[in-house]
Amino acid sequence: MGKVILGIETSCDETAVALVEDGKHVLKSLISSQIDLHRKFGGVVPEIASRKHLEVIFPLLEELFSDFPKEKIAAVAVTYGPGLVGALLVGLSVAKSLSYALNIPLIGVNHMEGHIFANFLEDPNPVFPALVLVVSGGHTDLIFMRGFGDYELLGETIDDAAGECFDKVGRVLNLPYPAGPIIDRLSSKGKPLYKFPVARLKEGSYNFSFSGLKTAVRIFCEKNPQARAEDIAASFQEALVKALVEKTVKALKNYQPAKIYLAGGVAANSKLREEFLNLGKAFKVPVHFPSLQYCTDNAAMIAAAGYHRYLLGKYAPLNLNAYPSLML
Ligand code: KG4
Ligand code: ZN
Repeated sequence: MGKVILGIETSCDETAVALVEDGKHVLKSLISSQIDLHRKFGGVVPEIASRKHLEVIFPLLEELFSDFPKEKIAAVAVTYGPGLVGALLVGLSVAKSLSYALNIPLIGVNHMEGHIFANFLEDPNPVFPALVLVVSGGHTDLIFMRGFGDYELLGETIDDAAGECFDKVGRVLNLPYPAGPIIDRLSSKGKPLYKFPVARLKEGSYNFSFSGLKTAVRIFCEKNPQARAEDIAASFQEALVKALVEKTVKALKNYQPAKIYLAGGVAANSKLREEFLNLGKAFKVPVHFPSLQYCTDNAAMIAAAGYHRYLLGKYAPLNLNAYPSLML
């Protein structure tokens, strides 16, 4: 048996634990989602999130260890940022206790690096340098990745993140939280009939801006109550994906990566996946994205990123803190 890393993820509204062997073989991945609890508030309520993590993490771990002796774990990897501080602290405290009790290394993982590593759970052929677009509920980052752990941030959102924009437009359309997957499904039944503006930031910038798009959709809906939600969804999704693709094309031309990766919850979006496959064909660059179960928050991706740090001996001290705005 190879090295098995225990991954723990509690940065937002999913409590997740996983056992991953050698950074790629997922032995077991468990996720307890709190989405139903937060839905009536239209978003994640931090205090409710922390309390729920605390309630479910031990039963989840018990289930994880029901057919795998915890004494065989080589190290414990845990998300220490970015995320909600109270939520992060639950996972961190449990990880530290296990590290101390089992006398195994503690490894701190950046949640965004975890999303990127979701790709390496399944990509048999990682190639660098790579261009990575990480699109989640909190981030929209275009990254030039020279190798494991070597990231250059080319651009990021200056206001709302892509996933946040999906969720806010969902509110305008009276859809439950999180609206991303629902807008994706609605779009497949509609037509992109309406032209919503894509923010053009200053020449040369790889940054994104989505707050104008969200406002444009809101104003359109107020003025056109008869428009079909399916068509509005398709038009919005088209505009948002176009903005992501435009900056990616620009980076492809200027950086000539050997591979393109998508990561984060919005990487589950069918239109974005389709457009990235087209980009790959047009630029003759292989494209990879995680399977749907590893796009949104999970602990297998944290264990995969943790394995890479484990090999380098990059262990964390037992007083590791939580960092809500941790950068890559
Ligand atoms: O990565 P993630 O699970 O959590 C964060 O780290 O933020 O991403 C969650 C985000 C939510 O905003 C959700 O609406 C969006 O990902 N999302 C999608 C899709 N599936 C999830 N957005 C568009 N299309 C989807 N199919
Ligand atoms: Zn995430």
